[in-house]
Amino acid sequence: MMLRRTTESPDMPEHQAPGQGGRNLTLLLIILFVPAVVVLVAVTMVMGRAWMDGLAVRAVAVTAPQMVDTGPAVGVGPAPQTGRQADAPGSQQAATPTSPINTVTSPTAEVMRLATDFSPARPAWEGALAAGTADEGQQIVDVGGPGLVACSSCHGKAGIAPAGSPFPDLAGKQAEYIAKQLMDFRAGTRNHAIMTPIARAMKDSDVGAVAKYFGGLPLRPAPVRATGPARGEALDRIGDMALGLPACANCHGMGGAGIGPLLPSLAGEPAEYLIAQLHAFRAGSRSNDDGGVMRGFAKRLSETDIRALAEFYAATKSGQR
Ligand code: HEC
Ligand code: HEC
Repeated sequence: MMLRRTTESPDMPEHQAPGQGGRNLTLLLIILFVPAVVVLVAVTMVMGRAWMDGLAVRAVAVTAPQMVDTGPAVGVGPAPQTGRQADAPGSQQAATPTSPINTVTSPTAEVMRLATDFSPARPAWEGALAAGTADEGQQIVDVGGPGLVACSSCHGKAGIAPAGSPFPDLAGKQAEYIAKQLMDFRAGTRNHAIMTPIARAMKDSDVGAVAKYFGGLPLRPAPVRATGPARGEALDRIGDMALGLPACANCHGMGGAGIGPLLPSLAGEPAEYLIAQLHAFRAGSRSNDDGGVMRGFAKRLSETDIRALAEFYAATKSGQR
């Protein structure tokens, strides 16, 4: 009733705040809104906590797989310390004695990263390539090292394999590619009865040293002339649409000359070696091709095509990368 009087008096002075009507209105507001606000606060607190819990669970789920992120060097020795890993906050955490992660004794603990570190993981070969000198590499290649047979006994003096041998030339191959192959043999993504144990006997600094030495050597001197089978040349330059094969030259350069640090040269390699690699990709015993590109192509190549390609590259001595 008082309330109605308040609303019914349009000419009531504005400054009549402490009056009856004002107090009644305040009372009404309190009665209406206080319970609503209390309920709202209670619901927000309960739901808010559930939401926070959800966040916490998710954060753990993100961290867990990082701990088993191994890199290629698992089980064969400590992962290489690249400059970036040494600086990363994750490596400091792994070194904290109280950290539960530290109870993991495998080398995986060293590459532990924070869930908030979204930078791409660096490959193991980068760390290996940073170690060792070309002079140390020459020593290992010419005379070997502790537990290491001289590489030259198969790959030839100065990295050029004896004519007619099944061994690949290493002279002039990109240092990055050679370091990657040796780390891949160690990790098991590339397998070979002879090379796997040799690579596993090598320290990271040995890998870096031989990669630098071979990378700096001149390629096998040879005339620039392609005389291989025509089918091999066609696959190299054009590919085969019907078989879903792009031109090999797209990635390996014209005449198998190689491109950049990680796309290897094929020119001048022994045919037997190239055939063995295509078979290994096809069988999956070599699976170190990122994205599986080479495994895919090798599955689509017939035996005749493989031989034609191998003979084409073996006869193609471009003399340049
Ligand atoms: C007993 C013979 C032998 C010795 C000694 C040897 N290798 Fe090899 N190496 C091979 C064979 C065979 C292959 C081909 C492996 C394959 O088919 O996958 C090979 C392949 C390689 C490759 C891969 C080349 C490519 O183009 O992908 C690298 C790198 C390599 N060897 C480095 C070395 C180093 C470094 C040493 C010395 C520490 C060494 N090898 C000693 C036989 C040998
Ligand atoms: C999309 C890019 C791409 C194309 C196209 C391609 N390759 Fe490769 N190939 C690669 C990469 C990358 C590697 C090296 C993988 C590694 O890191 O070991 C490789 C490696 C190889 C090797 C091993 C070389 C060695 O020294 O051990 C052979 C042999 C080879 N390729 C043959 C071919 C042939 C033949 C074709 C055409 C039918 C072809 N590739 C097309 C990307 C390609």
